[in-house]
Amino acid sequence: MSFLQAVNMDKIPSHVALIMDGNGRWAQAQGKSRMEGHVAGVETVRRITKAARRIGIRYLTLYAFSTENWGRPQEEVSALMGLLVKCLHNEMPLFMENGIRLRVIGQTEVFGPDVRAAMQEALDKTAANDKMDLVLALSYSARWELVRAARQIAEEAKAGTLAPENINADCINRHLATAFMPDPDLLIRTSGEQRISNFLLWQIAYSELYFSPVYWPDFDEEKFYEAVADFQQRDRRFGKIHSENPHKA
Ligand code: FPP
Repeated sequence: MSFLQAVNMDKIPSHVALIMDGNGRWAQAQGKSRMEGHVAGVETVRRITKAARRIGIRYLTLYAFSTENWGRPQEEVSALMGLLVKCLHNEMPLFMENGIRLRVIGQTEVFGPDVRAAMQEALDKTAANDKMDLVLALSYSARWELVRAARQIAEEAKAGTLAPENINADCINRHLATAFMPDPDLLIRTSGEQRISNFLLWQIAYSELYFSPVYWPDFDEEKFYEAVADFQQRDRRFGKIHSENPHKA
């Protein structure tokens, strides 16, 4: 049976976040260059974006480039930037045909002018699309995001526009790069590694975690739907005794 049939269309997660890991190891295992791994990884991005859209996932967040990834060899960083620009251009028909709005979270000021221009163009062109938000985490890390939020909150408190007693979870949410969307219901990481790597630390407080053993280029629709079906079997209690499903309580 196809895993698409195993997906319960009445219980689709609203937000799925993905740590796309294993491009380099996939390439190495096949005697290919790391960049060939990233190029194959872009194919998977396209596949999973379509698969997510097909079942009505509203927000899909991809960890595409972490703050720490700047520490990779210069050639890999530049090649990844080139790939990103090419992708933003080439994937425009996919975004437009599927009603996909592109969003970016991260420290985008640090990108070169060509990357920033390509990003801005893609953001502007897709701004009115409303079926799914594809959120690229670029030059993103959760600690960067939390430090930025703390600074903004401190500035507002200092200026007298925010009273310390009004600093609560909602206030912090509003100062995060992800303020426009709900927390992830499901976080998937590929490649068998079982860690979070500075991704959405605040937002995944109650997310379900799913670790797939396959490298990102080998992650396909079936495996994605398998992860969603697995998520749908989980009993989310959010720290309480009763399940989120009132009928099950
Ligand atoms: C992890 O594999 C992947 C990345 C750091 C980049 C992910 C990028 C893409 C899928 C391409 C689309 C995004 C851009 C920015 C063009 P890895 O290199 O960490 O693999 P390894 O752990 O096996 O070395």
